[in-house]
Amino acid sequence: MVPSKDLPPHEANWQPRSDIFKQDMSEEFKKYPMVTVNELRNYKERPRRVKMLMRDFIEDSLYNPNYGYFSKQVVIFSPGEPFDFASFYDELEFHADLSKRYREFEDALDAESPSDTRQLWYTPTELFRPYYGEAIARYLIANYKLTTYPYHDLIIYEMGAGRGTLMRNILDYIRHVDPDVYVRTQYKIIEISTQLASLQKSQLMQTANAREHADRVEIINQSIFDWKNPVPSPCFFLAFEVFDNFAHDVVRYDLETKEPLQGIVLIDDIGEFHEFYTRKLDPVLERYLQVREMATGGKYKVPYPSTWLGRWLALRKPFASNLSAQEYVPTRLMQFFDVLGRFFPAHRLLTSDFHYLPDAIQGLNAPIVQTRYKRQPIPVSTPLVHQGYFDIMFPTNFQIAEATYQAITGKLSRVLSHEDFMRRWAYVEDTETKSGENPLLNWYKNASVLYTV
Ligand SMILES: C[S@@+](CC[C@H](N)C(=O)[O-])C[C@H]1O[C@@H](n2cnc3c(N)ncnc32)[C@H](O)[C@@H]1O
Repeated sequence: MVPSKDLPPHEANWQPRSDIFKQDMSEEFKKYPMVTVNELRNYKERPRRVKMLMRDFIEDSLYNPNYGYFSKQVVIFSPGEPFDFASFYDELEFHADLSKRYREFEDALDAESPSDTRQLWYTPTELFRPYYGEAIARYLIANYKLTTYPYHDLIIYEMGAGRGTLMRNILDYIRHVDPDVYVRTQYKIIEISTQLASLQKSQLMQTANAREHADRVEIINQSIFDWKNPVPSPCFFLAFEVFDNFAHDVVRYDLETKEPLQGIVLIDDIGEFHEFYTRKLDPVLERYLQVREMATGGKYKVPYPSTWLGRWLALRKPFASNLSAQEYVPTRLMQFFDVLGRFFPAHRLLTSDFHYLPDAIQGLNAPIVQTRYKRQPIPVSTPLVHQGYFDIMFPTNFQIAEATYQAITGKLSRVLSHEDFMRRWAYVEDTETKSGENPLLNWYKNASVLYTV
């Protein structure tokens, strides 16, 4: 069924998500109000009898202050004492020790307050601390000295600082190797989660050594998307594993005309989800598609055959839909670049994230959607699941992200594999095992780094 342009506008604008007809919700679609993620922030309970953009649904599921995934039982693993990599024979032995510490960490949490639904994950910052932070600190000191030292302070912003480990490791290292730079250093964290912001503060109170950093650190508990303060000074802007949880819009394309349709989620009176696609795009998605087109010169992957014949054949397959598969597009990432361009005109970005994620759901640039129950990961096949119980994690297409970043901020940048970046800036012998295997270089093969040059 092709949504015809000849129909009256309210009927032409949408169609049900499923190719196999489920339940006609068209009356509800017309009747239910459209809500935004900002309105949903005030909801104490999950909404019903409303509709919203997929981007708002995902952001509400992840970040709603009352029932969002990040406001509930999310815990970032900390290995305790740093791993002594030289004492392991190989990566397998390191992995065995990591699994043991992971189990013990969770046993200790369960002893205090048992939970089957605790969401526990780890990041390279934590696994390779302090070496990971030290590599970043080396990059910061070198680039600061090459550019604005001694005319400006070293101002570092970190968005989404998790447990605050990177901040600790960077400041410890700068104090240790370059006291002159240390006295000029300011570190500011922008953190959406109140729980994590408190943990970051408590990191600074733990030891006398850490307390010394407190005067140089400011922890700002707000979402980057609410940022309104101009920062004209030169600064570094860090973001590690934050893009993957930025909300995306979902788009399907009309196979005859290649026109994009935007995904809308309807929640009915019993909390069931229904997906619709509308030809009327909201201004944020419309802008994203324009910026991408302009920034890439029209060179990007699409979720439908590129030739007319291919699309004609796709339309004629038995039970074929007239719409392409889903494509998830990073509208929130574009808005982050808008914030950088507008409020941080003299920034230098340094960011790392996943360019590929295994076990993703169907679609182009699709996320992994999963929860953890009784310590086992449980993946599902759609983001339309009970809000707050599931992590929704997207891969980042670094080529398109970089082109968009450059178009919006006017800056030049580079993309490197995580391994190449670490080969340049880490002391790789710190994380090498006896056999020569090096998990810092080998484990995050699906991650990339983007930085301003
Ligand atoms: C996966 S954790 C990574 C933590 C840390 N960077 C690391 O590598 O260990 C993502 C972090 O980003 C924060 N975050 C997510 N969205 C954000 C936003 N819009 N503004 C500020 N912080 C955000 C989360 O609360 C969390 O601290």
